[in-house]
Amino acid sequence: MNLAKRMELFKGYLGTEMNMRLTKMKEEGRDVINLGLGDPDVTPPPHLLEALRDAVCDPHHHHYPSFYSNRPLREAVAGWYQRRFNVTLDPDTEVLPLLGSSEGLFHIHLCLLDAGDVALVPDPAYPSYEAGVKLAGGQMEAIPLLKKNGFLPDLGAIPPEVARKAKMIWVNYPNNPTAAVATPQFYRELIDWAKKYQVVVVHDNAYTEICFGDFCPPSFLEFDEAKEVGVEFHSLSKSYNACGWRTGMLVGNKEIIAGMAKIKSHADRGMYYPMQVAATRALNGPVDFMDTRNRTFQERRDVVVKGLKKIGPEVEMPKATFYVWSTVPRGYSSSDFCFKVLEEVDVWMIPGSMYGKCGEGYLRIALTHPVDRLEEAMERLKRFVPCRVG
Ligand SMILES: Cc1ncc(COP(=O)(O)O)c(C=O)c1O
Repeated sequence: MNLAKRMELFKGYLGTEMNMRLTKMKEEGRDVINLGLGDPDVTPPPHLLEALRDAVCDPHHHHYPSFYSNRPLREAVAGWYQRRFNVTLDPDTEVLPLLGSSEGLFHIHLCLLDAGDVALVPDPAYPSYEAGVKLAGGQMEAIPLLKKNGFLPDLGAIPPEVARKAKMIWVNYPNNPTAAVATPQFYRELIDWAKKYQVVVVHDNAYTEICFGDFCPPSFLEFDEAKEVGVEFHSLSKSYNACGWRTGMLVGNKEIIAGMAKIKSHADRGMYYPMQVAATRALNGPVDFMDTRNRTFQERRDVVVKGLKKIGPEVEMPKATFYVWSTVPRGYSSSDFCFKVLEEVDVWMIPGSMYGKCGEGYLRIALTHPVDRLEEAMERLKRFVPCRVG
């Protein structure tokens, strides 16, 4: 079959192939601990499951929904942004519900890029950004995220001729895969830089609700003039323990929201109505379950960071996200280490190099299992490492 040439430009999502391999290993009877995919074992609170169940049982809820979702959901998004971030959004023009933020963060390239236009993409980064740029015919310029800069882009190091050519920049804090967080000064600098070079800021804010101690991640839209230069993605996946629901949203700049709504009117027929009802209930409802959930992730984080430190890697204590980003032990490339660990002790961690060149030397662990399984994973690593690393 002759597929389009563009199909050769991007890879399938990195989790897909690996999950097939891990499923096969499990079928062979191996006790694999999968610390790869960011889909934790937590579930949505019971009141949301009830809302979804009741909405599914209503026979009127199975027609085509509105492409843009009904007003109650858009109002709920606006209300949540007001309460959580003190950001005021017009539910009619500044909010667009999505089938998971993935859908929007893929389509946004079609909205912002013409063929050959430059998109600035962090390295390492969530892989869908690169795939979206390539599918839209854009040119990708990698922006290194380095430890010495706290894994934030060094905007001053972007050559002015590159900045002038760029149409958009991807920014994602709290960050996947590095678990880094951004400072208010960074957002201020980013907005000033974006205005100076007329670059659209696309902020992927999927992890704001997974945070520890006193740290409370902001929205990019909290900062003055943010709506003039960009948009923000958010999602119920991580915030409400609902990865499988495929419910997310895009908020911010009106013109971009209108453009994305136009694309969505062709790309999908809107969000299944019972999901809209459950998402509305979630956003309007109590959030106390998040504290308990975050304490669970915090305990897991502490087990993993302590375990890794015992075998030598350099690892920061994350303030947010359910990821731990760590160096690999000396003497290994990221991918050699992770694949050898998988083959020999049945623990899967994602090589940092799968997120970009600057991810080489690192690995990412997702805190998706209970403490006893994470302790078991750290024990297995300890068994693997001392006899291999000189
Ligand atoms: C940085 C980042 N953005 C977006 C997503 C996608 O989220 P959603 O489930 O809303 O599509 C993920 C999922 O892991 C992510 O890590």
